[in-house]
Amino acid sequence: MNDFIYHNPVKVYFGKDQLCHVGEELSKFGKRVLLTYGGGSIKKIGLYDKVKSEVKKSGLELFELSGIQPNPRIDSVRKGVQICKDKKIDVLLAVGGGSTLDATKYMAAGACVDFDPWDFFSKWAPIEKALPVITIPTLAATGSEMNGGGVISNPETKEKIGRGSEVLLPKVSFLDPTNTFTVNSYHTACGSVDIMSHIIEVYFTTEPDLHMLDTIMEGLMRTVIKYAPIALKEPDNYEARANLMWTSSWAINGFIDGGKKHEWSCHPMEHELSAIYDIIHGHGLALLTPRWLEYCLDENTVEKYYQFGTNVFDIDPNIDTMNVAKKSIEMLADFFFNTLGLEDTFSKVGIQEKDFSFMAKRACGGGTIKGFKPLGQKDIEEIFRMCL
Ligand code: NZQ
Ligand code: ZN
Repeated sequence: MNDFIYHNPVKVYFGKDQLCHVGEELSKFGKRVLLTYGGGSIKKIGLYDKVKSEVKKSGLELFELSGIQPNPRIDSVRKGVQICKDKKIDVLLAVGGGSTLDATKYMAAGACVDFDPWDFFSKWAPIEKALPVITIPTLAATGSEMNGGGVISNPETKEKIGRGSEVLLPKVSFLDPTNTFTVNSYHTACGSVDIMSHIIEVYFTTEPDLHMLDTIMEGLMRTVIKYAPIALKEPDNYEARANLMWTSSWAINGFIDGGKKHEWSCHPMEHELSAIYDIIHGHGLALLTPRWLEYCLDENTVEKYYQFGTNVFDIDPNIDTMNVAKKSIEMLADFFFNTLGLEDTFSKVGIQEKDFSFMAKRACGGGTIKGFKPLGQKDIEEIFRMCL
């Protein structure tokens, strides 16, 4: 295993009676707060009023930006940057799903430079400075509340890019599982797949693994497999929502990587699907992941599937290795498409073969994704075809 540094300074308040601390945390960064949110779910669930009242109680000045869409657009970022500059915002408070959190991180960084945000982020200039961000996630999926990453779309160029920087790590995040009770079945399912994928992208590598981290990843995956169906049946089951919420944060806050040098495979492929078709990220991952696993399975990789199948899905370890591997992929697909109820082919969600070569080329940047199995454009096109 490689040497590594683990440094995650995000302060987390977890639980249902923690919002009373939001004013005191915001106050540490100044007086002028920009509250950001999406299409209105936070109003429907009463969170907007609660947040506003806490902020006002602390004597802070509140500005607002609403309307951040799923697969957040660069236009929202531009609006937010303008408000930050015009109103001299001290701290941003993002309340919503990963899209709101991600867009807010981009605003926080965009406010510190004198370039158009798309030019700045898409030309890969280093992100060295950002205003402080505090988050209140309302959906268990992306882990944006505990990492320094974010993804943004530009509908004009049909691009979706991800950037990351330590300065984008939220200062504080308030994780209240009750805020996720109202997430509908579809987004609960997509969020659960996203969590699984963040783990699978790290778990399935050819690098030597740290047993301790593999065991933890298996526990995290088992947690999603156990609690996602409960959350679907009983949306206000606190234990289920709490388990999903905390698992989503730990799936992608740097901890499980443990120094592994690897590239993710399904995420770059999926970002092309959502860039062109605006589909929900977790759904794209559900379509791709079992087919990608099938594509990568061979005599050299089979052991990892055996470990996955026996430890995550309790497949009989006495069955021969290749059959355990195949069964593990079937069980994962069954979980995504039958238990979670997601449509199982590209055709059903409108993704067409005519775009495969373009999307595949962009997914691998015209070169190779050096993941579990190296994937060039032709490999990715083949995986896309397997999803049809
Ligand atoms: O916009 P509102 O009205 O808030 O409704 C949202 C949206 O329609 C709704 N929602 C959120 N919380 C709710 C709720 N509805 C009812 N009750 C609640 N409590 O759910 C819909 C989807 O929201 P969105 O924020 O788009 O979902 P998610 O959290 O899955 O975020 C997806 C975005 O994050 C990116 C994805 O690519 C995608 O753009 N990712 C970010 C990552 C990161 N920062 O580390 C990593 C991920 O791999 C991912 O790429
Ligand atoms: Zn993801």
